[in-house]
Amino acid sequence: MQVIIQPDTATAANLVARLVADTLKTKPASVIGLATGRTMEPVYERLIEFHRNDGLDFSKCRTFNLDEYAGVKADDFRSYRHTMQKLLFDHINIRPEATHLPDSMAADLNQACADYENKINAAGGVDLQLLGIGSNGHIGFNEPLSSFSSLTHVEFLTAATIRQNAGLCGGEDRVPRFALTMGVATILASRRALMLVTGAAKAELLANFIEGPVTSMITASALHWHRDCIIVADAAAAANLKNRAGYQFAFENNPAWAAYR
Ligand code: GLP
Repeated sequence: MQVIIQPDTATAANLVARLVADTLKTKPASVIGLATGRTMEPVYERLIEFHRNDGLDFSKCRTFNLDEYAGVKADDFRSYRHTMQKLLFDHINIRPEATHLPDSMAADLNQACADYENKINAAGGVDLQLLGIGSNGHIGFNEPLSSFSSLTHVEFLTAATIRQNAGLCGGEDRVPRFALTMGVATILASRRALMLVTGAAKAELLANFIEGPVTSMITASALHWHRDCIIVADAAAAANLKNRAGYQFAFENNPAWAAYR
């Protein structure tokens, strides 16, 4: 795991967007795993700018979103399909059929989860998986105690997640109780995982998961098992990390990061 601390949210989001852009430039047919949540919004804004101003090409890539609420139609403002169209897909040259989210309206949700996992594998697996983190430490919608071996599955949301996502759904009672999510093992199978964490509200959580023990109570801590995981945090989110100077030293001196400093 590598931890990169940036002075503010905009700089952190810019670095994440540049890493996505460079993945696409190196391998135009990349499979990109996408995430929703407020944290990702500035990343998608930057990617749209790169497309408009620098011709960043999405025409050959394929995307798989981490998760989707169960029983919510694509045109419902709460759905992650709707969110992704609005925040990214409608503004770039991606083929509509190359964008994937779990089928939350399927009659058999368990089958839809198995199909999603198969589709990811058939696409050759995820090259770069973007991640945010929920206030309870979830990745995707893998709530506390989700199995680290889990594949795409239906998850019952916790009260903490319902509270956290209420704002984007128009109130707590409008947050669906179930979601379809890539499992922890699906996320660990990506070739690179790239998490963005911003804001003081996540500082304690971030320190617990990066410098504390691996525990399924914080499913993000499973990322310590990932072979190539990068965590980008702004200074506010990084405030509780004890080894801040060490992470800074590595970012400033490792030639691998020269182009990003
Ligand atoms: C939702 C998503 C997660 C995301 C989280 C963080 O719960 N399922 O993938 O990481 O929101 O949201 P925010 O970035 O708004 O804090």
